[in-house]
Amino acid sequence: MAPSESAARAARRMKDSVEPEAAASGYMDHEPGDPSVRVTQGGITDALRNAGLRAGDTVLFHSSLSSMGTVVGGADAVIDGFLDAVGPAGTVAVPTLSNWRGLKDRHRVWDHWSIVDTPTYCGLIPETFRRRPEALRSNHYTHSVSAIGLRAAELTANHGETGLREAPWGPGAFAAASPWQRFYDWNVFYCLIGVNCQRLTMVHFVETHLIHRAIARAAPDRRKDLLAQVSGWTRGGIWAGIGLKKRLVAEELFAEKGLLHYGIIGSARLRSMRMRPMVDAWIALAENDPAYWCSEGFARWAELAAS
Ligand SMILES: CC(C)(COP(=O)(O)OP(=O)(O)OC[C@H]1O[C@@H](n2cnc3c(N)ncnc32)[C@H](O)[C@@H]1OP(=O)(O)O)[C@@H](O)C(=O)NCCC(=O)NCCS
Repeated sequence: MAPSESAARAARRMKDSVEPEAAASGYMDHEPGDPSVRVTQGGITDALRNAGLRAGDTVLFHSSLSSMGTVVGGADAVIDGFLDAVGPAGTVAVPTLSNWRGLKDRHRVWDHWSIVDTPTYCGLIPETFRRRPEALRSNHYTHSVSAIGLRAAELTANHGETGLREAPWGPGAFAAASPWQRFYDWNVFYCLIGVNCQRLTMVHFVETHLIHRAIARAAPDRRKDLLAQVSGWTRGGIWAGIGLKKRLVAEELFAEKGLLHYGIIGSARLRSMRMRPMVDAWIALAENDPAYWCSEGFARWAELAAS
């Protein structure tokens, strides 16, 4: 059954509901975009290929449509540009996050979640993408992913059913059985159009791993107590929280190390990277200096875990 509200209306409604909160919390906005720059589907494919996306790849992207200028054919042209770049053997994925911001009665999250109807706040491109009849969406109330292509079914299967990892979005969001773990395992191509690394959802995968790696290193008889202190869906507590400023520092470091590359797509900056080396580098940086990268509470807790 198709959602009753149009993609453009739903995307605008979600944007209007999250942007004031995002701005208040210090998120940098998307790039302004130059409407005099026209971009076609073919131009999008070329820009992605120039950035290193190959036929047969799996790609995940975050986006701002307006940052590209005037996209001939709108959100659909961007989606088709990605599909052309990876070809029939490839897979394209977008974050279709939902229900996270502004949800006050968190314990009732399942009442607010419909895999068909719940719109995403990640923009018009992901909202248009997830509505395509061939798109598959993973079944998670806040951190779903939608995908089209050869490995779409494998990528979106069983989200949060096994390998649970406690986290503020619930133990399933970044579980071992989740698209986010598969992005890492498959070393997918990861890119951002007109937005910076503050928008990387994978930062939360990194945070989740920092917590659970610290627990795994602790003596077996202390692990239960350490886990009980970790923040969960309806419970505050210890979290590795990598702040917005630190995400920009990370972007600079990744670019310096050659892990992140800058390109152009229309009037927007295209940031691209391979997933695994970026995540590995971030985990190594944060484990080396948790007090700099993460919350104070986490740094103390991690020290205790290691003692
Ligand atoms: C919030 C966000 C999507 C806003 O970017 P945006 O460019 O303003 O909005 P969208 O990508 O939804 O695109 C819609 C806008 O494109 C513009 N637009 C419409 N058709 C267009 C076209 N053919 N060509 C270019 N721009 C067009 C319109 O201005 C429209 O905004 P409006 O509906 O308010 O009028 C962006 O800042 C962002 O954060 N993107 C990443 C989100 C994400 O993945 N988050 C992950 C976790 S934090």
